[in-house]
Amino acid sequence: MDRRTFLALAGGVTAAGGLAGCTPLIGSPEEGKLMSFSLNQTTEHPSYAALNAWNVDLAQATSDRWGIDVYANATLGGQQEVVMLVGDGAVDMAVISGTALENLNGDYRTMNLPGVFDDIEHQVRVTNDLDIMGDLYSSLEESHGITVVGMFTQGARNVYTRAPVETPEDLAGTRIRVQESDVAIDMINAMGASATPMPYAEVYTALQSGILDGAENNEVSYVTQRHLEVARNYTHTAHQVGLDFIVVHTGLVRGMSEADARAFRESWLRASANHTRLWIEETEAAVATMLDEGVTILEPDRAPFVERLQAVAERYLTTDTSRALYARIREEA
Ligand code: GCU
Repeated sequence: MDRRTFLALAGGVTAAGGLAGCTPLIGSPEEGKLMSFSLNQTTEHPSYAALNAWNVDLAQATSDRWGIDVYANATLGGQQEVVMLVGDGAVDMAVISGTALENLNGDYRTMNLPGVFDDIEHQVRVTNDLDIMGDLYSSLEESHGITVVGMFTQGARNVYTRAPVETPEDLAGTRIRVQESDVAIDMINAMGASATPMPYAEVYTALQSGILDGAENNEVSYVTQRHLEVARNYTHTAHQVGLDFIVVHTGLVRGMSEADARAFRESWLRASANHTRLWIEETEAAVATMLDEGVTILEPDRAPFVERLQAVAERYLTTDTSRALYARIREEA
């Protein structure tokens, strides 16, 4: 396919919109596909920019056989639905928070535990090492039709609230939104609050109406989702270095020719490095926006929070696989 045909197809798919716009296979899988890609972030989020740059790079690396067509703002659905759609092949690829895979294979909880990663550098290095991650990344292929390609960092997640919070006692009785995951619920409860699981897209309104007293996320999400308008205190608890998995329908990667599979992997590694760079820049920009827009940023003593979180990590290391994975990741710190 020449570049013009590829772009024309891309335009057609975007114009069709929604699920009806999911791209049909262009010939056989070996010939390539413009893959529908679901993202639950706004077009200002660095993941959107990194994915669009990946599309250009992937098309070049595969002589226009493969590309990704990014649907932002959760227009293809929330992450819990989209992960199933990727398994069915109704959506080709998606960014799925680490927590969204916990229910499919409990060993994924290891990746979301407090303390598993020291920082972004440690996280990105480990998660691109297939000697460490390969078994986990392919563990859902036979059962669910989902292959994990790698991950984008979410940076450190922090608590933000309507009233200022500096200690676990300040969190007592507050309803704090968390992702729909056991680990996320336990972490926030352990920190002293009352965890309230809820899809990402519903958080702004729930904060605005007072159903929630707060939520927890990185600075970039706090700003791009405009939560800073409705929860004006941001407390650096750094209770988790979060990650987003990039998932693809297994049938698609298995259909790639060997050369395209290699080009896909290499272009993914470039996309990952680009995302990390953008992430660091955009986190700094988000902090500047928070200060400009008068958010109160609190730097509490983290020790009482860290102490309470220790037990959460221990509680989830229940299988040989999860214990071995956790130990291996810590060795790389
Ligand atoms: C971050 C993450 C998303 C996730 C969201 C959430 O923004 O990147 O993948 O959905 O947090 O808290 O739900």
